[in-house]
Amino acid sequence: MNKIDELKNSIMSQIAEYYRLAHRDDGVFDATHSRINYAGRIFDENELLNLTDAALEFWLTAGKWTKQFESGLADFLGIKHVLLVNSGSSANLLAFMALTSPLLGERTIKRGDEVITVAAGFPTTVAPIIQYGAVPVFVDVDLNGNIRPDLLNAALSVKTKAVFAAHTLGNPFALKEVKDFCRHHNLWLIEDNCDALGAQYQNCYTGTFGDVGTSSFYPPHHMTMGEGGAVYTDNPTLKKILLSMRDWGRDCWCETGFDNTCGCRFSGKFGTLPEGYDHKYVYSHFGYNLKATDLQAAIGCAQLEKLPEFIRKRRENFAFLRSSLRDCRDIFILPETTENSEPSWFGFMLTRRDNTPFSRNELAQHLEANRIQTRNLFAGNLTRHPCFESLVEGCDYRIAGTLTNTDKIMNDSLWIGVYPGMSEAKLDYMVKTIKKFIK
Ligand SMILES: Cc1ncc(COP(=O)(O)O)c(C=O)c1O
Repeated sequence: MNKIDELKNSIMSQIAEYYRLAHRDDGVFDATHSRINYAGRIFDENELLNLTDAALEFWLTAGKWTKQFESGLADFLGIKHVLLVNSGSSANLLAFMALTSPLLGERTIKRGDEVITVAAGFPTTVAPIIQYGAVPVFVDVDLNGNIRPDLLNAALSVKTKAVFAAHTLGNPFALKEVKDFCRHHNLWLIEDNCDALGAQYQNCYTGTFGDVGTSSFYPPHHMTMGEGGAVYTDNPTLKKILLSMRDWGRDCWCETGFDNTCGCRFSGKFGTLPEGYDHKYVYSHFGYNLKATDLQAAIGCAQLEKLPEFIRKRRENFAFLRSSLRDCRDIFILPETTENSEPSWFGFMLTRRDNTPFSRNELAQHLEANRIQTRNLFAGNLTRHPCFESLVEGCDYRIAGTLTNTDKIMNDSLWIGVYPGMSEAKLDYMVKTIKKFIK
């Protein structure tokens, strides 16, 4: 063994002990002091080992760990192409912008075209549509926060080009109906799968039904690498566009650190460039640099191994809360699993029924005062936020029908965690604290 290997072995051999001393959670729950977060990273020495390995290798940008992660996630999802990016928001941006590529001919989304979406969700599902100059058309959601397929027809216009919606809190939206609608009207479907990794619909993973799916690997999500995200597709043309736009808009597809993969680096003819202009610097799109680093991917590889267990635990925790709070149905609207699906729950949403003698914020404050972290369903109704003040309804965006349930969720819903870091003692404490409040 040479000196370098010896040193590396010595460093790696100490990681497990470091993890045990510095990070391992003893799992003890003290009802008078412990805080119950809605989510958090779950990891062991394997994430630290991979991260250290990648750090010592010092490739830094996308490299072998990125490739390993992309193919691992593709295998998990049963999809052909996965691209790692630096966040779920970047994944949404890239997924949407790919559909504006001229390579898509008549189906290219142009400025002024419409995209059907919802306002009860995370802002970066909608932001790329507005930033580009397309027009989001908001339809109402059901009381699980998912897009209502029965409202799609009324939202359709000659300008509609796509549907872009999230599987809210890990519960799939009605994919069959939405997909049938898209197929019938020749529309793109983007699934924001950021909160639903591992959810299944008719025995296939969400994110693989539409033309493009997206994931987030921010710490509260189903798996993490700190910051990170992914876009996935089965469509080879979209893959080519996604790759180009992720990597500066270039035409070249060399991996980082490699040259002349195409074999004709100095012999192509592009646009009105001179013959043989270096393919490495030929741009077929106005792109970004949304790549993640190999350090992130290395953590992701270890997390991917744990993903099936994370999903199982989230389902188990959800089931515990659902059955323990069953007798509160006269006070709360409880989450309902979408037909033909097996959700991969991100959280447990409680929506107070009209005329209950407390407000959502009073409940939230009670839970927070008892060290139980709560979250609203993100923006609630995005169209009511300050970022919409400079936009003109009917011009910059449309609302198809009313957003009655969206407003109900904005006013009356909150959610609590089901992440794998929950123990039965924590779940039980949450149930008791909620019940004590509503008594
Ligand atoms: C539905 C949804 N889409 C997109 C995102 C953005 O992901 P990121 O925080 O990784 O940018 C989030 C974030 O939580 C989300 O909940």
